[in-house]
Amino acid sequence: MVLRNDAVRVVVFFLLMSVCAAHASKYSGKDSAPESSLGTPAVTGPGGCFDITELGATGNGRTDSTKAVMEAWTSACGGTGKQTIVIPNGDFLTGALNLTGPCTGDVTIQLDGNLLGSNDLRKYKTNWIEVRHVDNLAITGKGKLDGQGPGVWSKNSCAKNYNCKILPNTLVLNKVNNGVVSGITLLNAKFFHMKIYRCNDVTIRDVTITAPEDSPNTDGIHVTDSSKISIFSTTIGTGDDCISIGPGSDGINITGVTCGPGHGISVGSLGRYKDEKDVTDITVKDCVLKNTANGVRIKSYEDSPSLITASKLTYENIKMEDVANPIIIDQKYCPNQMCPSNGNSKVIVKDVTFKNITGTSSTPEAVSFICSDKLPCRGVHMKDVNVEFSGTNNKTMAICNNAKVTATGCLKDLACV
Ligand SMILES: *[C@@H]1O[C@H](CO)[C@@H](O)[C@H](O)[C@H]1NC(C)=O
Ligand SMILES: *[C@@H]1O[C@H](CO)[C@@H](O)[C@H](O)[C@H]1NC(C)=O
Ligand SMILES: *[C@@H]1O[C@H](CO)[C@@H](O)[C@H](O)[C@H]1NC(C)=O
Ligand SMILES: *[C@@H]1O[C@H](CO)[C@@H](O)[C@H](O)[C@H]1NC(C)=O
Repeated sequence: MVLRNDAVRVVVFFLLMSVCAAHASKYSGKDSAPESSLGTPAVTGPGGCFDITELGATGNGRTDSTKAVMEAWTSACGGTGKQTIVIPNGDFLTGALNLTGPCTGDVTIQLDGNLLGSNDLRKYKTNWIEVRHVDNLAITGKGKLDGQGPGVWSKNSCAKNYNCKILPNTLVLNKVNNGVVSGITLLNAKFFHMKIYRCNDVTIRDVTITAPEDSPNTDGIHVTDSSKISIFSTTIGTGDDCISIGPGSDGINITGVTCGPGHGISVGSLGRYKDEKDVTDITVKDCVLKNTANGVRIKSYEDSPSLITASKLTYENIKMEDVANPIIIDQKYCPNQMCPSNGNSKVIVKDVTFKNITGTSSTPEAVSFICSDKLPCRGVHMKDVNVEFSGTNNKTMAICNNAKVTATGCLKDLACV
């Protein structure tokens, strides 16, 4: 009996203690070096912890808590050692969170509760949460970043207007060097869920991204002008690309991703803007695509203003489940038929390997290489590609326009002979 009461008292004590106190005792003080916190850099110095509810945030889903989060950021970013910002259980509504560095310490955002993006668009300049110019960042926890997109998706005119105004992206990492995003859920972004821009050495792990199949431009993760980016064990279902790899991407490793619904895992779009940088060294491995419009895709505009190259792209151990275009290289990409198509792509696509790709296609064309006659796709290798049309009224086939392909162990109809 006595023992049991003591146990209860200990539990109550921990419940009453603020989340920060728990973090502080776990991470700071000279006797408690953070030896086992996976993925977070070991640090020296006293550290600090900022619970947004102690800075005036209210987790009722209605009160704007932007100021409290910004105060927590300013303090944490200005501190030394390991600095933690705690978003405790609750629903915290905010407008734009401009989390700009450089910081003097290493900041972790511990997302135990949820952040909700306000639907008052006057509260944003560009993005919802933008972390800019920060080294050694971690965003982790079981909480959600809820973009509340259903309230504003009707204001997206991008299907009609080529130069449309872009709604706020949920989470933008801009010039983050050495970062981890793990465990969290991103829900119903107004535009993209995550954008990784000008970053180096960033890992996305055990993340869930969810939006309805018919939501506009709700890409899961868009990577551009970045190197050494890894995306592991992540589940993405949205209204657009699950992952898109834009210009200037180098050394991207996508492993263990489940995608669907959505438009698949894409390299591109390439060739829309002037002076885009090359894309190279992309690996997509051990992924599953379910009921997506595309499986693995490389897409570029026909009227690209500058010459760029996409090379060393490897797709391996991919399972397709009723995917409409399981393998597709499209050098005549033109969404909504709105782009000027005045000639030949200047995007070179070469050294592309598709290996051990299996499953089903919901259309007869399981493989489509739609390359340009002036710049044929070069060095396309298919090994053990066996994706079959799941319907009954037609047969599996490949479109092979202007592509130099070698094939071994593939379904005969897909070999581009
Ligand atoms: C974000 O904050 C930084 C520094 O405080 C400022 O220079 C920048 O203009 C802000 N950006 C936005 C989009 O508000
Ligand atoms: C990608 O990540 C996986 C899992 O950690 C690892 O085994 C593999 O070596 C990495 N590949 C590249 C090209 O970095
Ligand atoms: C082919 O890929 C599947 C996953 O789609 C995997 O289970 C299987 O082991 C792979 N086969 C080989 C020979 O690597
Ligand atoms: C089979 O599919 C191809 C490509 O989609 C199409 O052109 C053709 O008409 C289809 N054949 C039949 C019998 O439906």
